[in-house]
Amino acid sequence: MVWPRSRGFAAIAMVALELQPFSALAQSTSAIQVDGTSFALNGDNVSYRFHVDNETGDLITDHFGGLVTEDPISVEIDFVQGWVTKIGRVRREFPDLGRGDFRTPAFQIRQAQGYTVSQFQYQSHDVLEGKPGLPGLPSTFGDSEDASTLVVHLYDNYSSVAADLSYSIFPKYDSIVRSVNITNKGNGTITLEKLASLSVDLPDEDLDLLELKGDWSREGHRVRRKVDVGTQGFQSTAGYSSHLHNPFLALVSSTATESQGNAWGFSLVYTGSFAVDVEKGSQGLTRATIGLNPLQFSWKLRPGQTFTSPECVSVFSEAGVGGMSRQFHRLYRKHLMKSKFAEETRPSLLNSWEGLTYGINESSVTRLAQESADLGAKLFVMDDGWFGNKHPRTSDTAGLGDWQVNKDLFPNGLEALVDDVRDMGLQFGLWFEPEMVNPVSELYEKHPDWAIHAGSYPRTETRNQLVLNLGLPEVQEFVIDSVSNILNSAPITYVKWDNNRGIHETPDPNLDHRYMLGVYRVFEELTSRFPDVLWEGCASGGGRFDPGILQWFPQVWTSDDTDAVERIAIQFGTSLVYPPSAMGAHVSHVPNGVTQRSTSVSFRAHVAMMGGSFGLELDPQDLDEDERAQIPDLLALAEKINPIIVRGDFWRLALPEDTDYPAGQFISEDGSQVVLFAFQTRATINNAWPWFRLQGLDPQARYSVGDTGRTLSGKTLMNAGIQLQFEGDYDSQVIILEKQ
Ligand code: DGJ
Repeated sequence: MVWPRSRGFAAIAMVALELQPFSALAQSTSAIQVDGTSFALNGDNVSYRFHVDNETGDLITDHFGGLVTEDPISVEIDFVQGWVTKIGRVRREFPDLGRGDFRTPAFQIRQAQGYTVSQFQYQSHDVLEGKPGLPGLPSTFGDSEDASTLVVHLYDNYSSVAADLSYSIFPKYDSIVRSVNITNKGNGTITLEKLASLSVDLPDEDLDLLELKGDWSREGHRVRRKVDVGTQGFQSTAGYSSHLHNPFLALVSSTATESQGNAWGFSLVYTGSFAVDVEKGSQGLTRATIGLNPLQFSWKLRPGQTFTSPECVSVFSEAGVGGMSRQFHRLYRKHLMKSKFAEETRPSLLNSWEGLTYGINESSVTRLAQESADLGAKLFVMDDGWFGNKHPRTSDTAGLGDWQVNKDLFPNGLEALVDDVRDMGLQFGLWFEPEMVNPVSELYEKHPDWAIHAGSYPRTETRNQLVLNLGLPEVQEFVIDSVSNILNSAPITYVKWDNNRGIHETPDPNLDHRYMLGVYRVFEELTSRFPDVLWEGCASGGGRFDPGILQWFPQVWTSDDTDAVERIAIQFGTSLVYPPSAMGAHVSHVPNGVTQRSTSVSFRAHVAMMGGSFGLELDPQDLDEDERAQIPDLLALAEKINPIIVRGDFWRLALPEDTDYPAGQFISEDGSQVVLFAFQTRATINNAWPWFRLQGLDPQARYSVGDTGRTLSGKTLMNAGIQLQFEGDYDSQVIILEKQ
């Protein structure tokens, strides 16, 4: 199409885009196709295509969505009218600022001379088998059977800076993983002021943005809003991924539901501050960028140095938001989590925190452990309050940093305690918060400079503690040694790694990222030294529920809010991107400590058993007789279905924000077992009882339905469903279906 020449504006002649048809390769099924300088990545149900613009050397996107076999027919831009030239009108892979694209850039580099203009042009590319790791950063992994990688090498001749864009495709999961390397090949020092891990331009006019928002005890709440003209975004500046927003966004067609419609999900594999920008530009295209937060990033690269961005996983699904989530879950279980426990069933546990808080000592812990064993738990976890001698950790005011067991509280030492607990038939787990220090501690007396601080500015305390500078190698060594010493001193099989505040006074904008690289080094070292330990992440609940953590810790404490009603929203929201197998979920006392709500013990347990790591977090002494009598059976049920929760697929059948009857469903990996979780959060009167229509079943197969004595076809279960009756607020049912 030729644009009409303008009367008032200068009309700029543009060379037509010359799209290369993938003539010879059009029918090929290989995951990466290259035809000259046109590239295609194909998954089972996704295609991603881009090419090099012959005139400018820029990378232009042709398609990201459902499977296509060749480049679609598109309109060539011959002439443009107005201020926005061709570069600002097309879909770009690595957009810059300063050459006429007025939208959000993916990067900004301050050259040695001070300019912030860049002009990257295609130079060459490589196709690799498998998925390479990233130096010092968490990353997805896969061998040649799982993934293929395309690396496109770009170069800016004016500044002598190289950019390598990496695209790995995991065809089975319809996932494309992107990251960027910037190398300074010139003679002066350059500064990276912004570097997104991914920038994507989608042509669809009518998109919604999905994200997870929250706060302490209110993590993972799903938000959906229309993408409108201008920029919308969210970020973390907390130094960690944080409770406030998650490093994840999805763009979905406005008509997409849980089970149908196009959904593009983007998940940043990183634990530090991040930024997401979504911009619908004047031409109607939507650009999304996600990566390190430029507010805390200004990275100098001396000649010869390279900087690697964290990676971003993109998933496309035509099967709605649920289809997108299940692809993330499978990919993360199989190709992100390195722990040997990633797809293992988890021991049901009792954690001491809500039951004893700081009332920890040999006799209280021994009693609690014995009661856990009597109820049928398999792992006892001693939470906060066991360490510090000069400054005992008897409250949150002292002791962090002094990782020695308190001799007064445990006169016989840790090993004797662990042995006693193991004699009860339980494994033993322990809580740490190694990245922190209380000013009231021996560590702080010795190393006040190890706490993050900015010169003489006040060191603001949160929960009476400061953050240790994990960017310093000596602090990394201290943490590795402290945790190793304890783990070597007794047969401990589980660690809960907590982190209870954000980072405040950073002395320079790069501390956040250096800190994170230090944390990752510590995680890598400790999990390699102790591969048989089940590591659980925690940050005042779910303040660091992110893919970076999952690389080393296969589970995360989802929220300090253990109220079962709130938890449905938190767990369903978190499952937008993270597998239920990774969620720690516990039954606590009522009235709930956070919401003051009371629900039945079975309701609390049914919600909690949708998480991979099920447990109790209470003092059994405080249970009434009826509750206590139900717990052994609830623990047994949780154990029975745990393999399906940990390895199966999750379907959100009805969302808590839409209905008083939220429901979820798991299907085992081989499809032979199904577990339906159905809840009534608010009783009503004179309404028909709700129907729960199952999804993802084999339509031809027959399934036995719980203890009804009935067997129904997949078709009937999916099209008619099961009608259930409830009693009162907060009632629940768990129904196991077996394929015949
Ligand atoms: C915050 C965690 O989220 C809780 O589960 C508990 O471990 C406390 N810290 C202990 O201080």
